[in-house]
Amino acid sequence: MSNIVSIAVFASGSGSNFQAIQEAIERGEINAKIELVVTDKPGAYVVERAKVKNIPVAALSPKNFDSKVAYEQAILSKLQECEVKWIVLAGYMRLIGNTLLDPYASKIINIHPSLLPSFPGKDAIGQAMDHRVKVTGVTVHYVDAGMDTGPIIAQRAVTVVDGDREATEQAIHAIEHELYKEALQKTLT
Ligand code: GAR
Repeated sequence: MSNIVSIAVFASGSGSNFQAIQEAIERGEINAKIELVVTDKPGAYVVERAKVKNIPVAALSPKNFDSKVAYEQAILSKLQECEVKWIVLAGYMRLIGNTLLDPYASKIINIHPSLLPSFPGKDAIGQAMDHRVKVTGVTVHYVDAGMDTGPIIAQRAVTVVDGDREATEQAIHAIEHELYKEALQKTLT
């Protein structure tokens, strides 16, 4: 396959979306290569998942840097070393600053577990359950300086399982893995 797109996946947690993306790549369904996993949580399970897949990890704790700019500069150097063209956020729980937004303008994508603009920010599934909505969903969008505010690429609805957070979360994850793949197939160039 020609013109394989070099990407970095940023994650702070379990990394199920990272793994789904990597497995879609392995099946030839996304024309990309994950050059690097970036995490702000060195103990996150995504690190184990990346090791299993032999993908390098940059685990950088923001608290070890003097400022957010310095932290993101360290990430930027790693991305440049690997000639990364796109940043794919997969459960990365930090706002991206200008140090990364400027060099990667329109090349950063995020997935969020709600139908934005509803329930931005942390614990979107918990927010949906608290509001007792019947339908929530998943959004893939370009990243700008705001909190989950960039232009929307794709959305899919998920029915809330009444009062059952775990079942709702499982349904959302299953849709996320499919929707992110479809969105990446369309956008990565
Ligand atoms: C996913 O549900 C993702 O949409 C969410 O974090 C979870 C990570 O799961 N992201 C956000 O809430 C971003 N605002 P994973 O670690 O299993 O991929």
